[in-house]
Amino acid sequence: RHDSAIRPDRLNEYIGQRGAREQLEIFITAARQRQDSLDHTLIFGPPGLGKTTLANIIAGEMGVDIKSTSGPVLEKAGDLAAMLTNLQPGDVLFIDEIHRLSSAVEEVLYPAMEDFQLDIMIGEGPAARSIKLDLPRFTLVGATTRAGLLTSPLRDRFGIVQRLEFYGVDELTEIVTRSSRLLSLEADEAGAREIARRSRGTPRIANRLLRRVRDFAQVRGDGRLDREIADQALNMLNVDRCGMDHMDRRLLTTMIEKFDGGPVGVESLAAAISEERDTIEDVLEPYLIQQGFMMRTARGRIVTRSAYLHFGLSPGDDVPESE
Ligand code: ADE
Repeated sequence: RHDSAIRPDRLNEYIGQRGAREQLEIFITAARQRQDSLDHTLIFGPPGLGKTTLANIIAGEMGVDIKSTSGPVLEKAGDLAAMLTNLQPGDVLFIDEIHRLSSAVEEVLYPAMEDFQLDIMIGEGPAARSIKLDLPRFTLVGATTRAGLLTSPLRDRFGIVQRLEFYGVDELTEIVTRSSRLLSLEADEAGAREIARRSRGTPRIANRLLRRVRDFAQVRGDGRLDREIADQALNMLNVDRCGMDHMDRRLLTTMIEKFDGGPVGVESLAAAISEERDTIEDVLEPYLIQQGFMMRTARGRIVTRSAYLHFGLSPGDDVPESE
C-alpha cells in the first residue's frame, strides 16, 4: 500500500483541523445544493499538514475531477491556458506552491478566477493578437506555506481561505492508528502515541516514521508496534523525545553556540547552517516557534529558555521564556 492508499479521500475520514473541516463541509454542501461550483479556495500552512489531501477531498466531495499542477511548473501564460481550457464545468484546478507563479501567469489567472474568461496574447511582434475565451465555471484550489507570500490581488480573489494548524498528539495518534490498520500493522495505543509525540505535529512525518518503525519492528522485533519498539526505532533515526530531527537541533544549537542565543537575522542563520532561507522560514521554524523553542522578534530570531534546557545547557538570566 502506498501514500495514496493511506490518504483519506473523504471529509469524514479526515482527522483534525476541526475548524477547516466544519467550514468546508458547510460550503461544499451549500454549493452542491445550489448545483454551483465551489468558490475558489486558498489553503495555507506548513508542509505536510494535508493541503494536497484537502484539495483532493474537496474534488471528491463535490463529485468533480481534479487537475493538479504547481506554481513553478506553470512557466508561461500558455501553460496555464492549457490547464484552464482542459477543465470541465465544476472541476477543481489545484495549484500547489501558488506563491511561486510568475507575474505573467498571475495576470492570466485574475480574469479566469473572476469572470471565467481566458484573456491571452498569442504570437509576438506585429502578428500578436489577443484572444478571449469563455471558460467553464471551475474551482481554483491554491496551496501555499504562508498566505503572506501571495500578492494581495491574488489573495483577494479567493472566497474561501483556510489555515491549517499543527496537529495535536491525540489527533496524530488517531492518524497513526488509522494508517497502521491500512498497512495491516498490529499497533497498540502507546506505540502509536510514541510516534505521534515525535512527529513535529505533522501527519506526513508521522506516516513516514510509521513506515520506518514498521521496518524496525519487522527486523528487530516481532513485527508489532508498541512503545518500546517505537522508542528504539526513533532513537536510531535520531528523532529525539520532542520530535526534533537533526536539522532542528542544528538550527537551535547554532543559534546558541554561534550567535549567543540571538537575536540573529534569518539570512545569517541560513548561511551558518548552509540551508535556504525559505527552508528555515517554511519548514524548520514554524514548529520550533509553535513549541516555544524559539521566537521571532523585530531584531531577529532568538532562542528561549526551553531550548537551552532541552540541550542540557543553563540559560543566562537574560534568556526569555517563550511567549
Ligand atoms: N493522513 C494524513 N493526514 C491525515 C488526516 N488529517 N486525517 C487522516 N489521515 C491523514
